[in-house]
Amino acid sequence: MSKTLAAITGVHGYVPEYVLTNKELEQMVETSDDWITSRTGIKERRILKDKGKAASDMGVEMVKGLLEKTNTDPADIELVICATVTGDMKFPDTANIICDKAGINNAFGYDINAACSGFLFALSSGATYIESGRLKKVIVIGLDVMSSIIDYKDRTTCVIFGDGGGAVLLEPNDEGFGVIDSVFRGDGNGRHFLNMKGGGSLNPTSEETVKNGMHYVFQDGRPVFKAAVKGMTETVQQIFDRNNITKDEIDWLVPHQANMRIINSVAAFADFPMERVMVNIHRYGNTTAGTLPLCLWDYEDQLKKGDHLILTAFGGGFTWGSSLLKWAY
Ligand code: UT7
Repeated sequence: MSKTLAAITGVHGYVPEYVLTNKELEQMVETSDDWITSRTGIKERRILKDKGKAASDMGVEMVKGLLEKTNTDPADIELVICATVTGDMKFPDTANIICDKAGINNAFGYDINAACSGFLFALSSGATYIESGRLKKVIVIGLDVMSSIIDYKDRTTCVIFGDGGGAVLLEPNDEGFGVIDSVFRGDGNGRHFLNMKGGGSLNPTSEETVKNGMHYVFQDGRPVFKAAVKGMTETVQQIFDRNNITKDEIDWLVPHQANMRIINSVAAFADFPMERVMVNIHRYGNTTAGTLPLCLWDYEDQLKKGDHLILTAFGGGFTWGSSLLKWAY
């Protein structure tokens, strides 16, 4: 009998209704549709505008849709992991709030904060519980409400980020379908280039931190760009080498959607044809931990049982990595 893998047996995404276009951003900051499109590939992004709604409410939409389409009883879910940097509150974890609101009452839950790599790291964590035989049904969510931590006066960040994400169900598979391998890395020195300085134990929220805009995302884009291309390219190559596979055996490359130029560079380094690269950045922008499950959801109809996928991400931390998986349905 082959080793038990954790197979994705369903995916469901959610994006808020409100569409923030490049045209609208032109009215808000000194920018242009031309600049945003040519430098990032983004045309529009979704924003959670509903008063009183938060990350968990988006998560509930994802989870309810997932349970329904996979015909799963909420009582059978044993673990929910939520990757996010914009949970409802600093604590408790949003995963537990989602469970409560979605009627998942026999599970435990926790959040993973690895910024844009969060979904990949969470997927691997969830997979480990399944592979070990300890759990049989795990939900992994990647989502972010980036609009809650973006300064809409800062043109260097507000044009990039959006809200949304998705959830997958993981179940055991003994026929070789599921998460096959992962290569993950981190570099804490990256904290200087991409961060939110206020609200943590280093700079607890005060009048001063708010006055200085420390409750907003800060990004020094160029070094992040370079490190992202390098990190994703290297770990994709490691996945090829460690698993003795070539790009011709990979059906889909699923890259984090941070910048179309980064996606193009990673695909070019791997000599990977763009028609087999999942791209939806033009519609959603960068949803941080949400991009990868949103891609899987968008492309679900085109995926076939047995397809090999490489998921790759890079984000704040720095954190980065790639995972190889065989699609199960
Ligand atoms: O998901 C987490 C990881 N994050 C990433 O992977 C993001 C990586 N970085 C990037 O995607 C890009 O660096 C950005 C999209 C953030 C910026 O693009 P860039 O090509 O690196 O631009 P830049 O920061 O080098 O700025 C070029 C120029 C500057 O003007 P000067 O100094 O040349 O006069 C900026 O002030 O573009 C200006 N600029 C803008 N102009 C119009 C920056 N933002 C804007 C804007 N509209 N929104």
